[in-house]
Amino acid sequence: AAAEKGGHDYFMLKEIEEQPQAVADTLLGHFADGKIVLDEQRLSEQDLRDVDKVFVVACGSAYHSGLLAKYAIEHWTRLPVEVELASEFRYRDPVLDRSTLVVAISQSGETADTLEAVRHAKDQKARVLAVCNTNGSQIPREADAVLYTRAGPEIGVASTKAFLAQVTANYLVGLALAQARGTKYPDEVAHEFSDLESMPALVQRVLETAPAVRAIARDLAQSSTVLFLGRHVGYPVALEGALKLKELAYMHAEGFAAGELKHGPIALIEDGLPVIVVMPSPKGRAMLHSKLLSNIREIQARGARTIVIAEEGDDTVRPFADDLIEIPAAPTLLQPLLSTVPLQIFAAEIAQARGYDVDKPRNLAKSVTVE
Ligand code: G6P
Repeated sequence: AAAEKGGHDYFMLKEIEEQPQAVADTLLGHFADGKIVLDEQRLSEQDLRDVDKVFVVACGSAYHSGLLAKYAIEHWTRLPVEVELASEFRYRDPVLDRSTLVVAISQSGETADTLEAVRHAKDQKARVLAVCNTNGSQIPREADAVLYTRAGPEIGVASTKAFLAQVTANYLVGLALAQARGTKYPDEVAHEFSDLESMPALVQRVLETAPAVRAIARDLAQSSTVLFLGRHVGYPVALEGALKLKELAYMHAEGFAAGELKHGPIALIEDGLPVIVVMPSPKGRAMLHSKLLSNIREIQARGARTIVIAEEGDDTVRPFADDLIEIPAAPTLLQPLLSTVPLQIFAAEIAQARGYDVDKPRNLAKSVTVE
C-alpha cells in the first residue's frame, strides 16, 4: 500500500507530486498544426463562431477552475463569460439559447449538480462543452464537445492534480475559442500554448518549497481561522486555498478578493490572525501588484501574521511578509498553476498535524451523485 502511495502516507500527497505530469499530459495531443484539438467535437467551426456568450458550470474545486477560465476566455475572445455554481444554475432561469456555450467542468463526470445543469442547458438548446477527467462518464456523454483532462485517477477526495489539469484544460478551451473566432491578442494567443508547455517544470520547482510550507503549516496548526487574499486570478486561488483548508483540516477558512477587504473582512483582522496573500507578478498587469502591496500593508498594520506567496526576486514584498513563499515567474494568467500548489501542501500538512486522514475527510465524497 505504501508503494501505491509513492512512499507517502496518503494518496493525496502523491497526487500533489504528480501535478507536473498532470499538466503535461493534459497538454499532450491537444495541439497540432498550430491548432487546439478537442477530444470529441460534435460542434462545427460555425457553431463556435456563432457563440455570443459563455456560461461555466461546476462544483467545488472545479468551480474555482472555472472562475479562472473567465479571466482567460474574456481576455482572449471578448466573449462575456459567467461562472455559475452548477447547483444554482438551473434554478435561476439562466438566459440560454443556441448561441450560448455552456462549459461544464467535472473531474468525475458524474456530479449530479453539474449533470443537471448540462441537461437544463441542452433543453434550452445551448451547446455544451465538457472538461472532464473520466473517459466515457455521463457528462461528456451528453456534451456536444469534450476536452479530457489527463490527470489520471484521483483517489484523494479533495481535488489537487485534477484541479491543475482543469485549469490547464480551461485555458485550452479559451484558446480554441480564440482560434475559431479571432482575437484582439493574436501574439499572446499564439504564444500561450508554449507558455503552458513550460509550466510543468515550474510546478516541479514549486514542489521544492514543500519543506518551508510545511514548517509554516505546523506553526499554524492550532489556529482557529486562516484568511486568504488575492486579486484577479489570485482571487480564485485564494478561494481554492480556503476550500482545501476547510475540507482537509476542518478549519475555518475564507478566501476574499483583496479589494473587498475594506468593505468588511478587514474587521476580522486581529493580532496574530494568519492571512495568506497571493501576490501577482510585479512584471504583470499594471497596478495589480501595487494594490496588493497596500492591502498587505493594511492588514499587517492591524496585527495580522502575513504569509505571502510571491514571485522569486520580488523584494518589494519582503518588508510586509512575516513568512515568504517564493514561486517562479510566470505569465499572469498562468500563475495559478503555481500559486495553488503551496496552498494544497499547507492544508494537507495542517490536517496531518491535527491527526486527520487527508484522503478521506469526514462527511465528504469524491463524487457527489445526488443533488
Ligand atoms: C466533491 C469533491 C471535490 C470536487 C467536487 C466536484 O465535492 O470532494 O473535490 O471538486 O466534488 O467534483 P467533480 O467530479 O464534478 O469535479
